[in-house]
Order: sequence, then structure tokens, then C-alpha cells
Amino acid sequence: MGETKVAKASGSSSEYKDKDKPTAIRFSNITAGKAVADAVRTSLGPRGMDKMIQAGNGEVTITNDGATILKQMEVLHPAAKMLVELSKAQDIEAGDGTTTVVVIAGSLLEAAQKLLLKGIHPTAISESYQKAARKCSEILESMSTPVDLKDKNSLCQSASTSLCSKVVSQYSNVLGPLCVEAVMSVYDPIDNSVDMKDIKMIKKLGSTIEDCEMIDGLVLDCRSGSGGPSKIEKAKIGLIQFCISPPKTDMENQVVVSDYTQMDRVLQEERAYILNIVKAIKKAGCNVLLVQKSILRDALSDLALHFLAKMKIMVVKDVEREDIEFICKTLSCKPIASLDHFTSDMLASADLVEEVPTGTSKVIKVTGIAKKGRTVSVIVRGSNKLVLEEAERSIHDALCVIRCLVKKRAVIAGGGAPEMEMALKLSQFANTLTGMEQYCFRAFADALEIIPFTLAENAGLNPIATVTELRNRHANNEKTAGINVRKGAITNILEENVLQPLLVSTSAVQLAAETVRSIMKIDDICLVWEIGKKEKPLEVNEGRICAAPPIRPKRVLAEGRVTSHAEEDKTGEMACR
Ligand SMILES: Nc1ncnc2c1ncn2[C@@H]1O[C@H](COP(=O)(O)OP(=O)(O)OP(=O)(O)O)[C@@H](O)[C@H]1O
Ligand SMILES: [Mg+2]
Repeated sequence: MGETKVAKASGSSSEYKDKDKPTAIRFSNITAGKAVADAVRTSLGPRGMDKMIQAGNGEVTITNDGATILKQMEVLHPAAKMLVELSKAQDIEAGDGTTTVVVIAGSLLEAAQKLLLKGIHPTAISESYQKAARKCSEILESMSTPVDLKDKNSLCQSASTSLCSKVVSQYSNVLGPLCVEAVMSVYDPIDNSVDMKDIKMIKKLGSTIEDCEMIDGLVLDCRSGSGGPSKIEKAKIGLIQFCISPPKTDMENQVVVSDYTQMDRVLQEERAYILNIVKAIKKAGCNVLLVQKSILRDALSDLALHFLAKMKIMVVKDVEREDIEFICKTLSCKPIASLDHFTSDMLASADLVEEVPTGTSKVIKVTGIAKKGRTVSVIVRGSNKLVLEEAERSIHDALCVIRCLVKKRAVIAGGGAPEMEMALKLSQFANTLTGMEQYCFRAFADALEIIPFTLAENAGLNPIATVTELRNRHANNEKTAGINVRKGAITNILEENVLQPLLVSTSAVQLAAETVRSIMKIDDICLVWEIGKKEKPLEVNEGRICAAPPIRPKRVLAEGRVTSHAEEDKTGEMACR
């Protein structure tokens, strides 16, 4: 890859030709992108493997979620970062399909590389990819079936398909209906929207995932004040943002009291001050007090707790600042910022507030709320921290699947059926085209076969035999033929109830094609040196920019093998050559 500089000494214009550099940059970007896709490929599908990721601080995560795997990796190459962003974009748009989108993008990049080697111009590839992606959406829509939000069975099946590929798959019969119920409880029919912030998940170590429950009310991961009641019926709840403790001096100041009588006066004052606040709270009719955490001083002094307990007011301490909005929405009340505003009309009513033991600690449950807002709380249980966190991520994916069905009410068969159908229809459509476009459409179609190929590979089936049979079945107009991983054969995947939202597949193809298009359009990487920063943003080798190393995970323990830095450096060197 030598650079060609042609400088014409004679003539008015001097020409600078560097034909190889854009190609080298493009290939380097493609290599980096493919490396990211390969890193998550083994996690695809119900028989996909999980990754154990160890962060620099020693924290370990076990996950199957594509977006989480990529988020945790330390990716250096800018083009590889685009694939990480792609997965994030899919997570925001659809919530599921974050592995699929990256695998498709990797395959499209590989196809583009072959097209580039054939001499097709990157702009032609980019434009054809855009048209092909649009055509794919049409094909997917034509094979989708509308779904009614009242048809809970279909919704549960879609949630179960998403949960099937996770560690928690054996509990999909419990979690599926729970997710449907949760989303339908917060669904806003007027805006036709679901705000995921209205579903609060509380992780509690202990018990098994089977014991996950949805509470039609409010659950707070807080403790009640010691000495006071821990169960109140017919509750009048007040949420305060002010402190019930003696005021503090400014940071730098100190008050030294050496006289005993003066000290006594200070204590008397403090007692009177706190008692005044507690009496005002009691007078307003409040019997459950939620107190926001304070960083300036103690939100509640011991004396305040003592008085509140005496007056039979249940205290819920340490309510987080970020939970205030959710609590207000659930209880249909407003937070009270000062004692002057503590009036009975600011209080919320509920049938029961109680502290219940859950696992190793306790939670506060509020049920029978009088004017309950559109929110739900879900208690996630798990036998260890890693399973618990993965369960939360899996439930989040399943919730997003139902949200997708609310946004676009259509489902398609899973198990590689949509990708194979797109591949087939797209190559048939390619026959009607001419020139380079036909080449590009064909390449795009073939690239989509990576999904059924990977699903078969991860399920331990023969990928080539499986993909060819699947292709034949689709050619015989069996649109719903898919890979049945349980039977290890190609069957009508609808009989297995493997359904997924249309939006997940359309957005995966669209977003993947868009990212590949933008990578195709890059012909140079400019290094901008930050003044005072010694580190090089990218490695430069003899004037050439190379993808060394394309990705440098902190420490990915893939397939039981620790990738050492020495190994990574070798890969980097190879990429430079
Ligand atoms: N029971 C099943 N049989 C066959 N294929 C299935 C089954 N369940 C799911 N799939 C397929 O597995 C793929 C989804 O796998 P997976 O959930 O691991 O990845 P993802 O959804 O792309 O990413 P993530 O869930 O990490 O965001 C889809 O193509 C889906 O059709
Ligand atoms: Mg999934």
C-alpha cells in the first residue's frame, strides 16, 4: 500500500493523488467493525452463550445482552465505536435485538468489503444499501400479522421469545405475563405511549426468579424509623423535602459553648424547635412520613425520630432524590419543601403502608392508593447478584418488546424466518435491477443470511445444511419456516410460538444499514492532537493510519480464555501490516 504522489511541476495546477489511502482507511474501518460483530455473535439466539465481563475495578457482569456487552468493552477504534453506538441506538429504539443489529452490520460490512474489492464505488454501495434497507422494511411488513393489545396471549408469546435467549429463560412463563401486565398498567391510551420510567424495578437478593412480583402500588427500598410503627392502616402520607434536625452553622464556622447553663439552653431550644415541627405534622393528620435524603445535614435527628415514634407516625427514611418524581406520580401528591406548606390537602391516602421483610432486608409497600397514578413497581428476586442483575436486564428487554407492540401493533415469526424471507425476496427483486445495483442488492440479501446461519451455529446444528434447507422452504412459499432450536430442525416456527415485534426487526435492518452506509462514506481519519495530552488517539505507522488494535477490551473472558494484552498487540501489529 504505497502512497502515490504525482506532483506536476509543469502546468498551472498541481495534482495530488493518493488513491490507496481511502481504501486502506475503509478496509481498516471494516476490519474494526467486523471484530466488534464477531465479539457478540456467539451470544445470539436461545442457545447463544453468555459473556462474563470483568471491569477494571474487578466488578464482574454476566450477560447475554448485546448492548450491555458492548457498553462494558473498552473500544478504541472510532469505527468500532460506531457499532457500539448502533447497539445503543437499537436499545433506545426497540430495546431488544441489540445483538442482531450488530451481527447484521458486521455481515453488511463484510459484503461491502467484497464489493469494494470488485471495484464498485463506495457511494454506489451506500446508495444501494439504503434502497435495499427500505425494500426490507416493505418485505417485513408484508409478512407481519397485526396484533391486538387485548390479545394478551400474543403479547406474552412475544415477551417469552425475548426472555428465551436469556439466563432466565426457564422462568419465561412467570416473567412473560408479569411484563405484559406491567406495561399494560402504565400504557397511556391517549398518547398511545409507554414511559419506561413509570415501571420501577427493585432488586432484592434472595429467593429465586420465580418469586419476582408486580405490585399494584408503591414499593420503596427504604427502612422505617426505629421505634415507631411499621404498619399503618388508612394511611395519610406526606412526602417532605425539609429536614427535621437542628440547623447547622456554615461549613467553616464553629460555635463553642463552654457555659453549662448556655448548653442547657441550646438543648432546650433544639427540643422546642423539633417538637414544633413534629406537632405541625401531626396536626395536619399525617401518619406516614416519607423523608427525602439530605446531603447537607441529617434529614432526621434522633430526637425527631423519638417524637415521631411517640406520636405514632411511621417514618420512611432515606428516600432518594430521583425517586421523588415516581412517588409523586404514584401517590398523586406533591413533595412538601417547607413546614409552612405542610397541610392536610398535600397528603396522599392509602389503605395500607407496611414494612415487609424481603430477602436479607426489608421494603416498604404502599397498597390501596386512593388516587393512584399510572405506575407499577416490580420486585426482582434472584439467588445471587449476577443473576439478579441479568434478570433485571432481561425483564427490561421483555418490557421493551411489549412497548414496541404498543408503538407498532404487528408481530412476525422469529427463528431466522424474517431474515431468510428478506434475503429471498430481495434477491428476487435484484433480478429486476441492472448494473452495479443488482450486485449490491444481492450482496445485501446474502449478508442477511448471517442471522439464521449464526442461530444454527450457536444451537449446535450444521449451519450450511440448516440455512440451505431454510432457503428451500422459503422458496416453496413457507414464509414462517424457521429454525426450531429445540427439535434441531426447520419447522413452522409459529407452532413453537416464537413471535417477535415487527419494529425490532425493521429497526435492526434500518439502523444497521445506516451505520454501514456512514462507514462506507468515510475516506480519511484525521488525528486531532489535544494540547498537553501525550497519548496518541490512533496508532500511526509509517505515515499510515491503522486499526491497531481494532478493539481492546478491558479483559474479556470469552470461551474461558483470557485475552492477554500481548495477544492483542500481536493482532494490532497484524492489522498494521
Ligand atoms: N425459541 C426460539 N427458537 C428459535 N429462534 C429464536 C427463539 N427465541 C429467539 N429466537 C431468535 O433469536 C434471536 C434473538 O436472540 P437474542 O435475544 O439473543 O438477541 P437479540 O434480541 O438480537 O439481542 P438482545 O436480546 O441481546 O438485545 C432472534 O432472531 C429470534 O428470532
Ligand atoms: Mg433478545
